[in-house]
Amino acid sequence: MPLSFLVSIMLASTLLATSALAQHAEPKLDPASGLVIAPGFEQVRAQCTACHSVRLVAQNRADRDGWLQMIRWMQDTQNLWPLGEAEPVILDYLEANYGPLPRGRRAPLEVSF
Ligand code: HEC
Repeated sequence: MPLSFLVSIMLASTLLATSALAQHAEPKLDPASGLVIAPGFEQVRAQCTACHSVRLVAQNRADRDGWLQMIRWMQDTQNLWPLGEAEPVILDYLEANYGPLPRGRRAPLEVSF
């Protein structure tokens, strides 16, 4: 059956190509928390899931300073403990994986009155 053989080769290579593409484009997510699996993930899971859903972390985006401010706010007002040596690791992780989104909009129109 040469034709079906050819078709299955084509199908297999399409599947391979798409899965390779998908792996390249999509970060790996931890199914339980929804967090991106990357260096620092363990620290975030250990330190940032005791008081609220980790979704609250994954939903937010900020630059490093913004994340630091959120952590300080939780420390000042919500009894978040000092993160010690985990703090820079957590900030690296948040900055790399939950940084600000690139602005997907055009610049606002100039309006003159
Ligand atoms: C000691 C408890 C506690 C821990 C641990 C904790 N948080 Fe929070 N966090 C809070 C509380 C309380 C809120 C406010 C929740 C609300 O508004 O419903 C909050 C809110 C947030 C928000 C939303 C802030 C906003 O402006 O809406 C983010 C993001 C966040 N936390 C991230 C983190 C990260 C990252 C960590 C780990 C470093 C962490 N949290 C660990 C208590 C904690």
